[in-house]
Order: sequence, then structure tokens, then C-alpha cells
Amino acid sequence: MINLDLTHSLDLKKLDSYQEKVSKINKMIEEKTGEGNDYLGWVDWPERYDRNEVKEMIEAAHYVRENFDILVVCGIGGSYLGARAALEALKGLKYNDSLEIVFMGQTFSPNYVSQVLDYLKGKRFAINVISKSGTTTETSISFRLLKQLLEQQVGKEKARKAIFATTDKEKGALRTLSNKEGYKTFVLPRDIGGRYSVLTPVGLFPLACAGLDIEAMLLGAHEAHVKYNNDNIHENICYQYALVRDYMYHHNKSVEMYVTYEPSMNQLSEWLKQLFGESEGKQKKALYPGSACFTTDLHSLGQLIQDGTPLLFETIINVLNPEKDVVIPYDEDNLDELNYLKGRSLNFVNQKAFEGTLKAHSEEANVPCNLLLVDRMDEKTLGHLFYFFMRACAMSAYLLEINPFNQPGVEIYKRNMFHLLGKKGY
Ligand code: PA5
Repeated sequence: MINLDLTHSLDLKKLDSYQEKVSKINKMIEEKTGEGNDYLGWVDWPERYDRNEVKEMIEAAHYVRENFDILVVCGIGGSYLGARAALEALKGLKYNDSLEIVFMGQTFSPNYVSQVLDYLKGKRFAINVISKSGTTTETSISFRLLKQLLEQQVGKEKARKAIFATTDKEKGALRTLSNKEGYKTFVLPRDIGGRYSVLTPVGLFPLACAGLDIEAMLLGAHEAHVKYNNDNIHENICYQYALVRDYMYHHNKSVEMYVTYEPSMNQLSEWLKQLFGESEGKQKKALYPGSACFTTDLHSLGQLIQDGTPLLFETIINVLNPEKDVVIPYDEDNLDELNYLKGRSLNFVNQKAFEGTLKAHSEEANVPCNLLLVDRMDEKTLGHLFYFFMRACAMSAYLLEINPFNQPGVEIYKRNMFHLLGKKGY
């Protein structure tokens, strides 16, 4: 399903000395004894998820698809990025569906928020509000606005049936509100943190509403769990990837650039940036996770990557077989001199660009390039891929002796902002 090729990055033998550490950390992950272990619930989630809840999500998704034209997904960070990444990676950027998915709650931008509210006016929309804590300000403000608009348009009673909340089973402001109003709710398990929650209702309910096969995603994750619970570094590509990151970090690299050749995967890069950035970015350690979409960004960042800095390495996620393809036509006049490509597909051209760029960066500029080759993007593969990265991230953070599951630094901007906004207690 996915393959890791390190030939353009480093000699695998350089990783041999990690074996003992990896065995120890793998045990800590699987047995949930590592630092932050009360957030290791995602490790065996593909085996122990609530089958009934998945059925309920699929039923509720049918209801949403039958009764509404738009679903507004309201969340931020780990309560937003996974669903958006999967939606775009699987459906593309321009798709036709009877249900449109719109994201809100991930910004204070007055322009964005007012545009979405204007767009929703007079339309049949449902809301999936997602927040583990129930107190995240961006999400709460957006939800208040959305709820008011919905209630104005359809009345309180009908609005209740159009609001779906994903939150903690018992605690938090959103749970209290949901219980009071009688919203249909889905549970974000307490032992799974936001950025590890894409395979819970946080990601799965919006994706089910988009008509995607969420059971196939969970099956892909299950297969990944079985495959990557293996401490043999010669067999386990997930840990090989984690080790390369650690090796690069200790050999003067400070930026990992996620590269795709597919704009519909840009949001997957955003999800990766949060996963690795928020999990590892502590104690003045960590690689900076950046991203680029080639060939588009070769016309902006290409020069810098080729000649500008020795600090980065690339992790290229290359999907070999696209869902759709386009053939380049013959043109009688050939003024654009493209007839040498007549009958060739765009994927052929894209893959040649990939090969040419790989050579330019890895051989001619000495930029190490890890290749993650994906045969075809579908629900099962993406479920596998999400799990691959979450497990690699836990290994990578534990190698740095960092707790991957907290984010103490994020609180500081909030504290300052609340003080400036005059919130009680700040
Ligand atoms: O990964 C995380 O924990 C964060 O990104 C959270 O998901 C994000 O801050 C949103 O939090 P909440 O779900 O409590 O609204």
C-alpha cells in the first residue's frame, strides 16, 4: 500500500545503532507506559473503537445528506485539520456532491467568518461542532454565530436536529450545552488528544457526511497497527522514517519539508505540520515541519531548495496512480512546441518532473530526500497513512525524550490574548 524508499536519503546501516532504543520505545507505546501515556488511546483505537458509534455516524450522515445542502464543520487544530486533509485528499479540490462541506471555527478572521455567514443565509445547512474542551475561543465564537443564524432561519426546535456535537463524553462546556439542548453527540475519547483524533468521530463524522467509507479508513488503520507494532527496524518502515528524522536532526538538519505533487494533498501537509510541530516542538528541540507542493512551488521555493540552504531535507509523498488523468492533445500548428508530448498523460509529465527534481535536489544539491510511495489514494490507504504518521511521530518524539501529547506552549498566546480581551481571571 505504501513504501518507504531511503536510497536518496541515507544508508540504512547508519540506523542500526538505534535498535535497542526502538525496542524499548515500541514497548512503551504499545503498552501505553511512555510519558503522556494517558493520551496513548489512539495506539489500539483501530481495534477497540465503538462499532455501534460508527453505525450511528453512518446513519446520521445519511440523514444529513438527505436533509441538508451544506454541512458546516466547526473546529480548530486537531478538531479540524484531519477531516479537511482527508476530504481534500480523497475528493479533490473541485468536486460535485449534493452535500457541500464548509469549514469554520478555525479563525477569528472577520472577513472569512462574515463571508461564510452570508453564504449560508437562506440555505439548508447543518452544523458539526467539534471541540474536546468545549472552550476553544475560535470555535466557540463561530458556533455561537452559526447557531444563532440557524435558529433565526429554522427556529429553535429544527435547529436542534441540525446540530451535531463531537466532544468529551461527560465534561466541558459543549457537553453541557449539548445535554441541555438535546443535540446528537459523538464522543472524542478522553485518552486521545486532538492531533491524534482523525480516526475518531472528530474526523470520521464529517467524512461520512461527505459520502466517504469510514469503515475502510479504520480498516486501513487496523492494518497499519498490526504492521507497525514491530520493533525490528529492518522490517518496520514507520520506525525507519522516525529514525531518519532523528538522524537528520542530529546531523545539522533543522527543517523537514513535506513535499507532494498533488494540490489536493496540501491539507495533509498542514495536518502533518501540526502533528509533528505540536508533538515535538518542546524544550528548544525539534525539526521545523514545512511543506511545499511541486511543481507549483518549484517556481517559488525551488531556487532556495536547490542553492539556498543546507538546513533542510525532504519527505516526498508521491501518489503514483491518480484518480483521474488528462491526455495532452495534438495541435496542428504546434506554436507552443508541445507536440512532442502529444498523447502523453499529465501524470506521466508529473512523474517525470518528480524524477528530475529528485535528481536535482538529492544528487546535485545534496538535499536528503525520503520517498513515501503511495500506490493509489483511497480511504483504506489514507487510514493507513494517518496511522503510519501518528506512530512515527510518537517514536520520533520519544527518541528526543519529549512527551508527544501535551502542548504547554500554546497556552501562552491564549493567556496574553485573554488578558487583553478582559476575560475574568486573566
Ligand atoms: O492537538 C490538539 O490538542 C489541539 O490542536 C486541539 O485539537 C485544538 O486546540 C482544539 O481543541 P479543542 O478540541 O479542545 O477545541
